[in-house]
Amino acid sequence: MAKKKIAVLTSGGDAPGMNAAVRAVVRAGIVKGMDVIGVYRGYNGLLNGDVAEMNLRSVSEIIGRGGTTLYTARSEEYNTPAGVQKAADYCRQIGVSGVVVIGGDGSFRGARDLSNAGIPCVGIPGTIDNDIACSEYTIGFDTAMNTAMEMIDKIRDTAQSHDRCSVVEVMGRRCGDIALQTGIACGATAILVPEMPYNIENDVIAKIQSTRKTGKQHFIIIVAEGVGGVNDIAKYIQQRLGIESRATILGHVQRGGSPTLRDRVMATSLGHRAVELLEDGIGDRVVCIKDGRVFDYDITEALNMKRVFDEKLYRISMDVSI
Ligand code: F6P
Repeated sequence: MAKKKIAVLTSGGDAPGMNAAVRAVVRAGIVKGMDVIGVYRGYNGLLNGDVAEMNLRSVSEIIGRGGTTLYTARSEEYNTPAGVQKAADYCRQIGVSGVVVIGGDGSFRGARDLSNAGIPCVGIPGTIDNDIACSEYTIGFDTAMNTAMEMIDKIRDTAQSHDRCSVVEVMGRRCGDIALQTGIACGATAILVPEMPYNIENDVIAKIQSTRKTGKQHFIIIVAEGVGGVNDIAKYIQQRLGIESRATILGHVQRGGSPTLRDRVMATSLGHRAVELLEDGIGDRVVCIKDGRVFDYDITEALNMKRVFDEKLYRISMDVSI
């Protein structure tokens, strides 16, 4: 019987830990007697034949590297019915009978379409935002938060030295998890996230005023990218309270760097499970973390789930930022 052949690709925004997931997929696949193909630059690689046969050593020395050694892209051509068909035809032509897709929601829609076109796919949540509804965790989240925390600690040193207010934007387009957790970890006076409507007077100015009354002289305000407006917020604080204020946008520094232990282990567990599913011929699934364990869902079901923001943790952060 011909050897089973699977492929692995990374798609969408890169995230630290993607390499660890690729390594797990390649090694688990080979250990299970399969051939494993690495696909370059996301779905584009399936359209352009940009692929390479992987062996055990192709993924040596990458578990601790940031970014993705398979490169990544958001493919416009693939996002058309003709593009999906072309990718499915190419998979059949080279004998690929399953694809592991590491990425976010957009990448999973691509995986669902390819599954519907006859090539079983399994998605692995890989994005720093932690915004995949079906999963308690996405690969890259821990590293990004630790990077942001380190940067904000440095900003605090200078804010403290000058008795200033620093307004810091962290990544997270639709999801405030990075802001919430780094805000707690850095002792922010206020945290603004897209999930919770805010009022600048009540949620920022009043908090600065009340902490000032008890002796606080420098302030950190964390703002999720999806809320934005850090320059305006800093200007407003300065005008309204007379506290010298500065805005910082941390940006893509949060996407890079060597993955933390948590990201490497999560990526390895999820990658391994994805291969087990494809080994059993099961596709159209997303592997995820549920109640702290590896689990899997139908992709469409996963895409239709609504993310629940941790309001309890948000309230806790408010209670202690006094
Ligand atoms: O989804 C991950 C993420 O880093 C978001 O936090 C951010 O909004 C977006 O990607 C940035 O995308 P790009 O790198 O394409 O500018």
